[in-house]
Amino acid sequence: MMQIVSNVLFLTIVLGTYVSAVRIGSFNLHQYGSKKAANATLTNVVAKIINDFDLAIIQEITDASLRAPHVLHDALNQVSGKNPYTLILSGRAGRSNTKEQYIFFNREATSGVELVNAYLYEDVPDNFERPPFIGTFKVKKPGKSGVKFFTIMNVHLRPDAAYAELLSMRVAIEDFITKHPQYFDETSTSFNDALEQNVVDATVDNKPSLKTNHPILIVGDFNADCSYISLRRQLMLRTISYVDFTWVINNQVKTNTRQTCTYDRVFINGDKFVNAIVPNSNTTVHFQEQLGMTLDEALDISDHIPIKFDIEW
Ligand SMILES: *[C@@H]1O[C@H](CO)[C@@H](O)[C@H](O)[C@H]1NC(C)=O
Ligand SMILES: *[C@@H]1O[C@H](CO)[C@@H](O)[C@H](O)[C@H]1NC(C)=O
Repeated sequence: MMQIVSNVLFLTIVLGTYVSAVRIGSFNLHQYGSKKAANATLTNVVAKIINDFDLAIIQEITDASLRAPHVLHDALNQVSGKNPYTLILSGRAGRSNTKEQYIFFNREATSGVELVNAYLYEDVPDNFERPPFIGTFKVKKPGKSGVKFFTIMNVHLRPDAAYAELLSMRVAIEDFITKHPQYFDETSTSFNDALEQNVVDATVDNKPSLKTNHPILIVGDFNADCSYISLRRQLMLRTISYVDFTWVINNQVKTNTRQTCTYDRVFINGDKFVNAIVPNSNTTVHFQEQLGMTLDEALDISDHIPIKFDIEW
């Protein structure tokens, strides 16, 4: 009897956690183009990995014929079954002929969020190889977190310009605030305060202190480690330029498949959002081990592994 009671209790706790927490993941698919899309076995593995996320943030879709994102979307919905994902796809971004698309896959039935709008940042000053893809989401039934809306800036920063491009993200944030005053009205931080606190070109004496009621996330492949962003520069980002953001994925984990560097990151501005993250859920997904692959087999899928966190609205 005790055994049954404790099993029921255990199941209730496990299912309770399972139902209420929403999983958000990010994955750089390393040149997911016509070649990878033509391989149904590979595409199905990618779909299975993404299916673990209720809201997925995807980088490096490279098909010039524009078919690959739809192939992946179809495969994902085959795996997902009765709760389909919607595809939120960016235009092709990139200065040269090598262009990429970003994706948000949203399984609305389980993510509890719906898209408000998404756009590629209009990079007038030409700061980015690929301008960020900026999506704003609405929490359908806001819970105890108090988060009603939030914005994800999906990035794939250029490796040899990663530090400069990350600094330029403050310009993209400035632009977002200017274009969306509605999120900054009627909050403890006014529109003008938000603009003032988002310091572009921060220095030791003039650091940003963005404190708004509208959470802003920067998520994706920052190339923010090893030879691309040195530890000294990472320290400057932590203590000066992004001192007002929480680094939800930091150097404790490695995000490339070879397990040598933390290229992929989640930066979050907004205490309400950060406080709603399930402790210890912020980590990487070791699909190579989970799927019993060799390193070479895993590298065929991607040279990155996904990063993720769980949140309770
Ligand atoms: C398709 O992908 C699988 C899994 O990565 C791989 O084993 C296989 O060799 C690929 N097939 C082709 C034709 O490239
Ligand atoms: C997850 O978040 C906690 C709390 O902020 C932090 O201490 C930890 O290092 C993070 N884990 C990773 C993998 O970044």
